Amino acid sequence: MFDSVPMAPPDAILGLTEAYKADPNPKKINLGVGVFQDESGRTPVLQSVKEAERRLIEEESSKSYMPIDGSPAYAGAVQRMLFGVDSAVVAERRAATSDTPGGTGALRVAGDYLHANHPGAALWLSDPTWANHRGVFTAAGLTIKTYPYLDAGANALNFDAMLAALREVPAGDVVLLHGCCHNPTGVDPSTGQWEQVAALLARRGVLPLVDFAYQGFSVGIEEDAAGLRAVAAVCPELLICSSFSKNFGLYRERVGALTVVGSTADATAAVQSQVKTVIRRNYSNPPAHGAAVVATILEDPALTARWRDELAAMRDRINGMRRAFRQWFDDRGVRLNPRGNAFITDQKGMFTMSGLTKDHVARLRDEFSIYIVGSGRINVAGITPGNLDYLCESIAAVI
Ligand code: LMR
Repeated sequence: MFDSVPMAPPDAILGLTEAYKADPNPKKINLGVGVFQDESGRTPVLQSVKEAERRLIEEESSKSYMPIDGSPAYAGAVQRMLFGVDSAVVAERRAATSDTPGGTGALRVAGDYLHANHPGAALWLSDPTWANHRGVFTAAGLTIKTYPYLDAGANALNFDAMLAALREVPAGDVVLLHGCCHNPTGVDPSTGQWEQVAALLARRGVLPLVDFAYQGFSVGIEEDAAGLRAVAAVCPELLICSSFSKNFGLYRERVGALTVVGSTADATAAVQSQVKTVIRRNYSNPPAHGAAVVATILEDPALTARWRDELAAMRDRINGMRRAFRQWFDDRGVRLNPRGNAFITDQKGMFTMSGLTKDHVARLRDEFSIYIVGSGRINVAGITPGNLDYLCESIAAVI
């Protein structure tokens, strides 16, 4: 049976890391996968995480199975981060959270839930979107459609086209929105634009699915939730897939959450019972460690303060590199976009959509050992003071 199985193509993002590792060039740079790196190119374990882990080793008393949807302490911590400490959604018991293996696990559980319970619903993705969205939701059996998002010429949000397309989405379909730090573009709607989108989806009876993987990487924990909270304020039902890979640096622990919001506590409980059925058939119940780390930090005010400082330091480093990257080109009169380089510092989060074409990306990899996703998405967190000149000189050479 196995002799005739063809090779699958390498993953568009994680496959780059494999190629990067195999590259012997000492000047190589990996700007592919969205992982934070410090100034020396390392992805450190946060000190707040280390402290939480020390406590867990001392206090953990059992390795028995987790509940299917994870621990209530974790669910409460997730909901406070999403909706704030005094949210009506939480007070009215209209939210239910499942601990999932990473944000990707949350997306797949959401996809399986939608396919099983709302079989006619199509899922609308922004164009462009995270390279793995289509694969995850196609594997779950959903019909995928797209709405315009980026004005590639200006490297900015094409809000009019986005809104016009969303006006045509039929009631009962699902629209995926990136909660902040849009992946791959770094282009986010303003709060006013979020409110317009939220009102439109509510009016049309379209279900929002918010993918929220970068909370805290744009401005701050509360500020970055403004879009999600605008949606929750007017849409009676929504799904949220969140991740702690980036903001707690817990990538390999696979810590994420699927949060269901229903119009009543009873409706939410029924949906959550279906979500639990999906989880049980898929991976039974979640891994415990990463979620316990997050809950330990968020339940202790001193540890929370330490974590917030560490998150702010990550955000500041990335923003500093954004400014330096743009400055390098500005100083030399090199334009990455005909309208100028301001888009680099306007974009938010880990990524910048550089405007580099597939050919540029291929030349950067083949001639300079610089690894960038084929769409031209650059992980700004991979830029360091040590590799900035080499990176910018190489980009200038290929464009
Ligand atoms: C990314 O977009 O680089 C991250 O979300 C990591 C991944 O799994 O693709």
